[in-house]
Amino acid sequence: MARLRVGVLISGRGSNLQALIEAAADPDFPAEIVLVVANQGDAGGLAHAKASGIRTETINHRAFNAKQGFEASIDATLRGARIDLVCLAGFMRILSSWFVERWRDRLINIHPSLLPAFKGLDTHERVLASGTRFSGCTVHFVRPDVDDGPTIVQAVVPVMPGDSQETLAARVLAAEHRCYPLAVRLIAEGRVQIRDERVDIVGAMPPAEVMMFNPVG
Ligand code: GAR
Repeated sequence: MARLRVGVLISGRGSNLQALIEAAADPDFPAEIVLVVANQGDAGGLAHAKASGIRTETINHRAFNAKQGFEASIDATLRGARIDLVCLAGFMRILSSWFVERWRDRLINIHPSLLPAFKGLDTHERVLASGTRFSGCTVHFVRPDVDDGPTIVQAVVPVMPGDSQETLAARVLAAEHRCYPLAVRLIAEGRVQIRDERVDIVGAMPPAEVMMFNPVG
């Protein structure tokens, strides 16, 4: 069966991109990463893509007078590559509702908190300041409001006494690297259905997947 054609949008380091590339290196993985688009040429993740022979494009938002031109360029590039699913992986530009609606239900994002809690920037700093005992990550379909949309996969991690932003971020990031490939796989397998803006996962879940939804360590 043809693999789902995935395009990944990044702004920086690209460790989630790398997790997707590694998952897709397995020929049994039902999706392939065919294109990586960065909005700045110094995005570290571009090197991950190039090292794996994946096509990269840099579309710099600063080269456009208005957001519409920037987004139209990304849109045309994705369509030209016959992309089925777009993954935002540390893409730090807010996309307009024009773009979001054009890719509705084919555009997903990862955020380093248990949404709908702690939307926006400086997530780990605000989690620590709040005193909450748990954080985590969320993979969700993108809607026009920032960090909003139906949840596909979440993982919980503990907030430990003495955590800094860096130690908490590293713990959450390890969970992100498991959740993003899982979400893409579930979509590629046709097991993700959106009903009334909530996601149903079709089919029984093997224990390993359940652990990813709620990992213990
Ligand atoms: C990840 O922690 C991701 O969840 C976060 O940026 C980081 C990107 O890391 N995204 C957001 O905060 C979006 N609101 P990466 O470039 O190594 O994947």
